Amino acid sequence: MTTQETRAETRSPGLMFPTGFVWGAATSAYQIEGAVAADGRGTSVWDTFVNQPGHVVGGENADVAIDHYNRYREDVRLMAGLGLTAYRFSVSWPRIQPDGAGAVNAKGLDFYKRLVDELLAHGVDPWLTLYHWDLPQALEDAGGWPERDTASRFADFAALVHDELGDRVTNWSTVNEPWCAAFLGYASGEHAPGRREPAAAIRAAHHLNLAHGLSTQAMRAQRADSLIGGCVNLYAISPATGSEADRDAARRIDGLQNRFFLDALLKGAYPEDVLADLRAVTDTDFIQDGDLALIGAPLDTLLVNYYSRFTVSGAPGGARSAAAAPTDSGSPWVGSERVGFVNGGRPVTAMGWEIDDSGLYEILTRLARDYPSVPLVISENGAAFDDELTADGRVHDQERLAYIDAHLRTCHAAIEAGVPLRGYFAWSLMDNFEWAWGYGKRFGLVYVDYPTQRRVLKDSALWYAEAARHGGLPG
Ligand code: NOJ
Repeated sequence: MTTQETRAETRSPGLMFPTGFVWGAATSAYQIEGAVAADGRGTSVWDTFVNQPGHVVGGENADVAIDHYNRYREDVRLMAGLGLTAYRFSVSWPRIQPDGAGAVNAKGLDFYKRLVDELLAHGVDPWLTLYHWDLPQALEDAGGWPERDTASRFADFAALVHDELGDRVTNWSTVNEPWCAAFLGYASGEHAPGRREPAAAIRAAHHLNLAHGLSTQAMRAQRADSLIGGCVNLYAISPATGSEADRDAARRIDGLQNRFFLDALLKGAYPEDVLADLRAVTDTDFIQDGDLALIGAPLDTLLVNYYSRFTVSGAPGGARSAAAAPTDSGSPWVGSERVGFVNGGRPVTAMGWEIDDSGLYEILTRLARDYPSVPLVISENGAAFDDELTADGRVHDQERLAYIDAHLRTCHAAIEAGVPLRGYFAWSLMDNFEWAWGYGKRFGLVYVDYPTQRRVLKDSALWYAEAARHGGLPG
């Protein structure tokens, strides 16, 4: 086929997405910014965590990360060059409020004003996430998310940022993946602050939901025209066999991983069966009257992060698959001795996560059925693979391209089936600091050569840019 024929084929109608569909990519502050001591930034729990031995593969930290704090202009040019219509990023709480309360650090806030202005000037719509796990250390020292007061501090912080940026940012989301912040941070200890206290993790989960509710209320009181969403990480869950033990394990994992957050945010109630499971670990009197009404106040968008499917077993002693640690994909049930994660036999990414776009279809159609009132956006989807910068100066990441292509086709099928899906954000725009895995796991559409910080468009980026420009995929 000649080049011209290839171009003609790409221009053919193909699989077109609805007009206005959002073609985005996502990052988070701690994973890309670096500059941890710049301009009065305070310390976050992640700064503390990465500097303790044994927490991050290779002892890596994010002091420099991909230096986005200093290179944001170049990075925004890159997004515009790719034709992205939106960029999802998070603000660093300790950059704006170094101790998590009180006076604003104006220089920290200014960074985000400059970033947003730059995005708008390049026609890229900013989607701002208020919390992507970098809790100010001072708040952890006061007890962290297991303490109710942290939720109030967060609402103050959200109101402050929203007051300053609400005139330029329309799309807001509160807490990124509250399941991870609660259970990896406070139960398994794989993430900051590294605590292993199951009862505290359950309190943390409720207070993260409360933080969502309180901050949403505060922002709604400030402006009526902001679009506010909550962000959850959802997994398709299958029982390993049809046995009662396996089916109950699937119910419990689906309960804690998916329904605990979805029902709270979208129905204003915790599922009774999940509460009963949790009461085996702790009493739940920290859930106060009125909390669920706040948490379940109407949302403009549900942001869904989707990566994989879990196959679970209730067999005693069932082990988590080795590849699942340390990661935000392994789901440490607070009584994990009763749940095992088994290999479902699908191909895996470099994280060991099974690739299954049918799970995304399952999640999207389930959301449209069980929580019909809320528009959806895929706020993260993507894959780590062992990328290589080859002699031709390119990164031929065919596997990532195929992963994103398959998941986008699934999104299209879900839209055709009536799911109100409004957009897609690839995780991630650029390679970055993958939490406890450090820099070894590359999720970017854009390759980062860490020693030089040079950005190189991978083949997946060039392909995604074509899809974004075209508003669809080749048929
Ligand atoms: C979800 C998290 O929000 C993000 O920070 C992380 O890098 C990706 N998943 C990949 O693990």
